[in-house]
Amino acid sequence: MNGVELRENIYWIGVNDRRTHLFENLWPLEKGISYNAYLLKDKKTALIDTVEIGHVEAYLDAIHALLGPDKPVDYLVINHMEPDHSGALKLITMKYPNITLVGNKTTFKFVKGFFGDFPHILTVEEGNTLDLGDHSLRFIMTPMLHWPETMMTLETREKILFTGDVFGSFGSLDGVLFDDEAKLDAWEPEQQRYYSNIVGKYIKQTQRALETLKDVEVNMFAPTHGLIWRKNLSHIVSLYDRWSRLEGEKGVVIAYSSMYGRTERMSDYLARELIKAGVPDVVVHDTSKTHLSYILSDIWKYQGLILGSPAYNNGLFPTVETLTTSLEHMGIKNRYLGIFGTATWSGGGVKTLSHIAETTGLTLIHPPYEAKYRPLEEDYQHCKDLAIKMAKALGVSSQTC
Ligand code: FEO
Repeated sequence: MNGVELRENIYWIGVNDRRTHLFENLWPLEKGISYNAYLLKDKKTALIDTVEIGHVEAYLDAIHALLGPDKPVDYLVINHMEPDHSGALKLITMKYPNITLVGNKTTFKFVKGFFGDFPHILTVEEGNTLDLGDHSLRFIMTPMLHWPETMMTLETREKILFTGDVFGSFGSLDGVLFDDEAKLDAWEPEQQRYYSNIVGKYIKQTQRALETLKDVEVNMFAPTHGLIWRKNLSHIVSLYDRWSRLEGEKGVVIAYSSMYGRTERMSDYLARELIKAGVPDVVVHDTSKTHLSYILSDIWKYQGLILGSPAYNNGLFPTVETLTTSLEHMGIKNRYLGIFGTATWSGGGVKTLSHIAETTGLTLIHPPYEAKYRPLEEDYQHCKDLAIKMAKALGVSSQTC
């Protein structure tokens, strides 16, 4: 596609990537991803962001198709310097040597660090505008969404807000481009996984940005990944509001690992007891099998979290440790927590897990317990007690339990 017109002389010139397995070499891309970039054609021409370097040919072809051989690009607005959006920056400056790079003070620290010095730069601050002719651009600073330099750019005539990673999603654009062309229910899991994996650490900054946007009249959100929002703007705003408040739905994630099946047996018993106790949704993940990305996404979704681990070399099982490290790193909070495990010789798994209740904002609702050798009646009773307490904490306690 050589560009899709969003409004008169404003084009999407992004690309789809269905080849990369891991975003940031970490997060699975089973459904691909899009790198959205934009072009505004006016007396002065402006690009909003570029694309990942491996897709530069399609990006340059789209620009060429829209501008022809003679019209130059005057500005490249850099909303975000992560290489999935700044990948083609240097090539653009080589193709259009008189182009002016537009960014904030922090943007240009990254530009210099990644690519060196450029002769034409324009440093902008909050509220500054850039006149293109019939269109003008206004800049809104949104640091840490999701890097320190990130900003949004508002096209003031059509009121299109180029939001960077905010309101983005995993998933390629398979023919659809706008929210009203897509099945939103089908997109939501990948939107939530993207938020929790990529932007989830920055919940305060998300709330601050949503507060700022209340005073900005917008007809369209144009993010750097996923759907462009022109109809259901309040839908994506409400999802971001909910996710960044870490409100969670009434349900429980059990995330465990099990070497020889004993911790797994306790997980299955717990899951059954949770359902019996009235919990409407229970998801069980084996951390040795399910990628961290999906477990984090479900932890973002539900209010309850139960972690289970066998002892491993006097400590936590490695895949459970990876998960708990991520939870601490991301600052997860507002979750009801349960802890259990198994041990054969000296233990250590549950003891290490217990620290997470102290190092995070999670609320431990039942004393951690560790089965010795194999789960016995008293261990299953602990599972049952934990399930009942969890259902009560979630406010879904069943009369039949
Ligand atoms: Fe899509 Fe933070 O880059």
